[in-house]
Amino acid sequence: MVANKELRLAVIPGDGTGPEVTAEALKVLRAISELESFTFEMEELPYGGEYYLRTGEVLPEGAIDHLRSFDAIFLGAVGHPDVPPGTLEKGLLLEIRFQLDQYINLRPVKLYPGVETPLAGKQPEDIDFVVVRENTEDLYCGVGGFLRKGTPDEVAMQTAVYTRKGCERCIRWAFEYTRRRNNPKGKRLTLVAKTNVLTFGHDLWDRTFREIAEEYADVEADYNHVDACCMWMVKNPEYYDVIVTTNMFGDIITDLGAMIQGGMGVAAGGNINPQPGGCSMFEPMGGSAPKYTGQGVINPIAAISAMSMLLEHTGHQAAGRRIWQAVQTVTGTKMKSQAAGKMGYSTSEVGDLVVEALREQDQT
Ligand code: IPM
Ligand code: MN
Repeated sequence: MVANKELRLAVIPGDGTGPEVTAEALKVLRAISELESFTFEMEELPYGGEYYLRTGEVLPEGAIDHLRSFDAIFLGAVGHPDVPPGTLEKGLLLEIRFQLDQYINLRPVKLYPGVETPLAGKQPEDIDFVVVRENTEDLYCGVGGFLRKGTPDEVAMQTAVYTRKGCERCIRWAFEYTRRRNNPKGKRLTLVAKTNVLTFGHDLWDRTFREIAEEYADVEADYNHVDACCMWMVKNPEYYDVIVTTNMFGDIITDLGAMIQGGMGVAAGGNINPQPGGCSMFEPMGGSAPKYTGQGVINPIAAISAMSMLLEHTGHQAAGRRIWQAVQTVTGTKMKSQAAGKMGYSTSEVGDLVVEALREQDQT
């Protein structure tokens, strides 16, 4: 009954405004599946802060194996003011990333037409790069502990874990991605790390990067320290094509990236398991924004862009590209701003505009 659908999705709308932006992403998915004639089915899963408060568990027994059986996961947003910080992050987001071995965190940093950037004088053609963040190692492994906790002599340790396999698979994927992206300005992959201070872990990254670079003569293999990268992202974002980096640094620079591309209302990302049959998860970068819940003011562009990425990664490239084009039509010709409540349209009207733009493409 299931096998005849071309795309099987698990959808976790989540908390706060998560369900509102998810509804718009699904509206766009329905429209594009008709226009591009593919079938899909989805199962909505109730996980998130509300679910945790109701049941006392973040994910029930068997949830991970159930999720694994889908082609992909769409996540709206999780986060609830009554749930202690870290609970959903560790119990849901990181759990899914680690258990499903989604070892790539892919974050396009692209300024869409009509979108305001805080970087004076920068145009859409200047802000158009992609961050490939390693997504399963580093400080995110939860290795560490306390000694003499709660005393004046307390010691806390938090260990960064890097493995040859872990960095190699990420670096290799990034080289392949850079090659596929085929930037007409030249293919450049920049390793962002801190080899001058992290002389063990980032030495492993640097050596692995150089070794693999030998196999990709068509890609310029480049290196920036992470602090310098933050300067260049603000001063010369046009320098970058693709960045590959470690988990923690990637977390930090992708929030900087989200801001220069116009904010959390537009930034989307994917947690990718590139293995055949691997299950990947796509999400808007913004949180659950509880204070805007139910008002119809939250920006669904990031969620719709996440759906576009999901389709590109599940073999529906044309559908993904069309959504991405339609999003740019809407930001470029319709929306007044990308900020919640200032779009000039409600959340669902923005979804409608994207659908309209998709239909108009079909006629040309
Ligand atoms: C992200 C988020 C997560 C991370 C948090 C919520 C654990 O900030 O996806 O970038 O740090 O990876
Ligand atoms: Mn983050």
